[in-house]
Amino acid sequence: MSNHSLRNFTKQDSDSIYAIEIAANPFPWTLKTLQSCIGGRYITRQIKINKQAVGFYVGDLVIDELTLMEICVHPDFQGQGLGQILLNDFLAKAKENKVVTCHLEVRAKNTAAQMLYMKNGFIQVHRRTGYYPAAMGYEDALVMSLSLS
Ligand SMILES: CC(C)(COP(=O)(O)OP(=O)(O)OC[C@H]1O[C@@H](n2cnc3c(N)ncnc32)[C@H](O)[C@@H]1OP(=O)(O)O)[C@@H](O)C(=O)NCCC(=O)NCCS
Repeated sequence: MSNHSLRNFTKQDSDSIYAIEIAANPFPWTLKTLQSCIGGRYITRQIKINKQAVGFYVGDLVIDELTLMEICVHPDFQGQGLGQILLNDFLAKAKENKVVTCHLEVRAKNTAAQMLYMKNGFIQVHRRTGYYPAAMGYEDALVMSLSLS
């Protein structure tokens, strides 16, 4: 999408960012969790279309490791390349900060996100059995990594 813009988001943007989180996730973060991941070591970026926030990600930067804590595109705007644009920005931030390894965790049934990560070179390094609560019981987490060295 050509009319998009990427910029940081702050606590002042938490309502518009949280609206995307709720719309896109069957098991969303709480607002408190989102707000606790803004500022300090966190990289918080949003994508806007015509001044409306439609997606975001949160990265946790610790020395030379960057963890993708959340990436999310509003359902009305999915499938149009915005997730890839956000991930490109995440990887650019990783390079800018001389990151050696990127990490993330994803639900085992979240094929769309896994396809996005695999397409960008992430590989599965662990599987955590029953890590996430699910509609019925629990769901495994896949731990994925990307080496940039
Ligand atoms: C994962 C997510 C961010 C992808 O955003 P998006 O804007 O729809 O993705 P894009 O249109 O940029 O697609 C990029 C790639 O993602 C993968 N992908 C996206 N949607 C997919 C789907 N429904 N099925 C399979 N693969 C899919 C594909 O590899 C796609 O590349 P391709 O178009 O060349 O096949 C989005 O689905 C989302 O917000 N999901 C809910 C939140 C979530 O699960 N976040 C991940 C937490 S770990």
